[in-house]
Amino acid sequence: MKQVFLETFGCQMNVADTDRMEFILFHSGYRRTWEKEDADLILVNTCSIREKAEQKTFSLFGGLKPLKAINPNLILGLTGCMGQQDGEKMLKRMPFLDFVLGPDQVEGIGKAVNRARESEKSFVWTGFDSKKIYSIPEIPGDLPQKPGPSAFVNIIKGCDKFCTFCIVPFTRGREKSREPDELYQEIRHLIKHGAKEIILLGQNVNSYGKRGLTNPIPFHELLYKIEEIPGLQRLRFTTSHPNDFTRETIRAYRDIDVLVNHLHLPIQSGNNEVLKSMRRDHTVEEYLELIDELKSEVPGVSLTTDIIVGFPGETDAQFQDTMKIMERIGCSSSFMFSYSPRPGTPANEFKDSVPEETKRQRLQEIIQLQNRMTEEQGKTYQGKTVEVLIEGKSARPGYSLKGRNPQYWRVNAKDSEGRYQPGDMVQVRIEQTSGHGLSGIIQ
Ligand code: 5AD
Ligand code: SF4
Repeated sequence: MKQVFLETFGCQMNVADTDRMEFILFHSGYRRTWEKEDADLILVNTCSIREKAEQKTFSLFGGLKPLKAINPNLILGLTGCMGQQDGEKMLKRMPFLDFVLGPDQVEGIGKAVNRARESEKSFVWTGFDSKKIYSIPEIPGDLPQKPGPSAFVNIIKGCDKFCTFCIVPFTRGREKSREPDELYQEIRHLIKHGAKEIILLGQNVNSYGKRGLTNPIPFHELLYKIEEIPGLQRLRFTTSHPNDFTRETIRAYRDIDVLVNHLHLPIQSGNNEVLKSMRRDHTVEEYLELIDELKSEVPGVSLTTDIIVGFPGETDAQFQDTMKIMERIGCSSSFMFSYSPRPGTPANEFKDSVPEETKRQRLQEIIQLQNRMTEEQGKTYQGKTVEVLIEGKSARPGYSLKGRNPQYWRVNAKDSEGRYQPGDMVQVRIEQTSGHGLSGIIQ
């Protein structure tokens, strides 16, 4: 039996792509190993959203190179966004690579591995698939592993927004949605194999169904249809763009029981001039109007967001606007980043005027602010009972299980009699909070 070692950097889309490659390779006789040294094939699924992710990849490959010397039959492939962006450059920089595959070529992983086995010459496959519709065909037969209680389903790929700082539209191409019937089938299949929660994935899920589908339906209608699938206990989606997030979707939150009370809605900055220069095409006021409506229609909804500090030209006053907006929104947690110039993006041509030290300080400040808000919100759960979908074993001493509540807080659960297992939905009485984590006893 041949063995494949898989490493993933970046977003949930990349995690889903790695899972798909594992699945395809499983059907060509590969089993996953967690030991690089045992592998016949090593794939690194890369991310180019920020420079730091790229640096981590290069340092990982530095460690993989000697393995090739030990095992000359080892095949080494670089997949994902770094490959899409700079395929030939990757081969030049790392001539020990056998191939580079772009994110739109995931379905061709089997063929790529075969070609690498047959030929000495390294190659780059980074063409975008020319079909209008995005399809992930079903492969009959066993799954390499059972899906977890919470499973991802890609509904749309690519992005047409072209925010000036972002590399994604270049690495993942234009928006393409999957046919609804293909999605229902996949969700039914996952539920049959044990999934309880489905997380719909896409760079901009709210744009689902806008173009290309034979039976086009908008995103909110897709939610209503998925709700009807028997056995589904929780539904989530990520990521959203404020401009495509509709009032109908707010109503769907209110109407659909399985749609959990959590929304991840990136704002990026709290200043209108910065938003304009980022080409986000909405104002702070429009964002606030949207979330105020959501909060009033869906009591108890929790919000998370993405923030970039140190965007070119961001003044101290503009940064303070972001701090103010963060307090006003009151997210339970945020993904916070220091701006990283990305070659090929429009913002890369702007003067990167904010010194690194200032970016670092601003990042520290918003992290501190977010931590304080997270802690305050965490305390409101103290003594309360929350519903938790058990996803696995907890690493926290004294707590055997872990999962999440509907609002996406991590919860450690004490199950003194060992009655529960992953996939169970339990009620947990919260006795302690720390960071973005809650801990308590199963009732
Ligand atoms: N620099 C810093 N953060 C970025 N993001 C995207 N591109 C960049 C960049 N060049 C962040 C945004 C986005 C999240 C996925 O990554 O906040 O929402
Ligand atoms: Fe990037 Fe903007 Fe598209 Fe999100 S919406 S993937 S930030 S271009």
